[in-house]
Amino acid sequence: MQAKIIDGKAIARDIKEELRVEVERLKANGTVPTLAVVLVGGDPASAVYVKNKKAACAHVGIRSLSYELPADTTEASLLELVEELNSRQDVHGILVQLPLPVQIDEDKVLMAIRPEKDVDGFHPMNVGNLSIGRPGFVSCTPAGILELLKRTGIQLKGKKCVIVGRSNIVGKPVAMLLLREHATVTICHSRTEDLPGECRQADVLVAAVGIPNFIKGSHVKPGAVVIDVGINRLADGKLCGDVDYVECLEVAGHITPVPGGVGPMTIAMLMKNCVEAASK
Ligand code: GUN
Repeated sequence: MQAKIIDGKAIARDIKEELRVEVERLKANGTVPTLAVVLVGGDPASAVYVKNKKAACAHVGIRSLSYELPADTTEASLLELVEELNSRQDVHGILVQLPLPVQIDEDKVLMAIRPEKDVDGFHPMNVGNLSIGRPGFVSCTPAGILELLKRTGIQLKGKKCVIVGRSNIVGKPVAMLLLREHATVTICHSRTEDLPGECRQADVLVAAVGIPNFIKGSHVKPGAVVIDVGINRLADGKLCGDVDYVECLEVAGHITPVPGGVGPMTIAMLMKNCVEAASK
């Protein structure tokens, strides 16, 4: 039987509609939720991401402030801007689009953002809070994955979840979130022995490796939920995930498409974090 397709675009749309109502309420109480978006240099992919984030802000009713800095911006001047945004009462969220040019230490910049305004959830304070079960901002892609699973009605308690990929921005935080839901969690990576065998144990398989079509039908337990975090651009310009969609569609119980799965959820959760930052 063919897998049910998890429609991330539709779920993200629902979330943004819910947020619109919340933003109206905040505005009626005198708070205009505001996100400062900082882009350094002219990386074309980053420019597209930033454009999409600003469009989502406009859709939900969040005010966005744009800071587009030249590629030769110094670390000191970027840190100065972050400090200014940290101290502004009317700015609730700060997003510095990554990657940054080589002369700038990304960690230093991310650590300079006040944790209460860190809507990306990249500050070590927020990462630490997630790992010890304290409240704080959760990074948007992992939060989006959890929201997709919850809104699809997937039970996680006691289930075996296997994550392929151990990055700081996806693999590790997804593991923490699933653990918080009482799942049994395994993180696999490039050095894992018998990766297909580990994957075949999974009730929920999350692929975040950055390799096109890496997860084959033979990696998937029949009926499993397959979440594809990959966004890979092929030579012909088409987008493709980390999951071989055609093969896995025949084996999985649920599957996310690329595009239209996890991607739209990332932006929806960024909006959610901004609204939360403004509500405090
Ligand atoms: N670059 C790629 N993904 C992201 C993201 O989620 N946030 C930021 N700030 N930069 C990114």
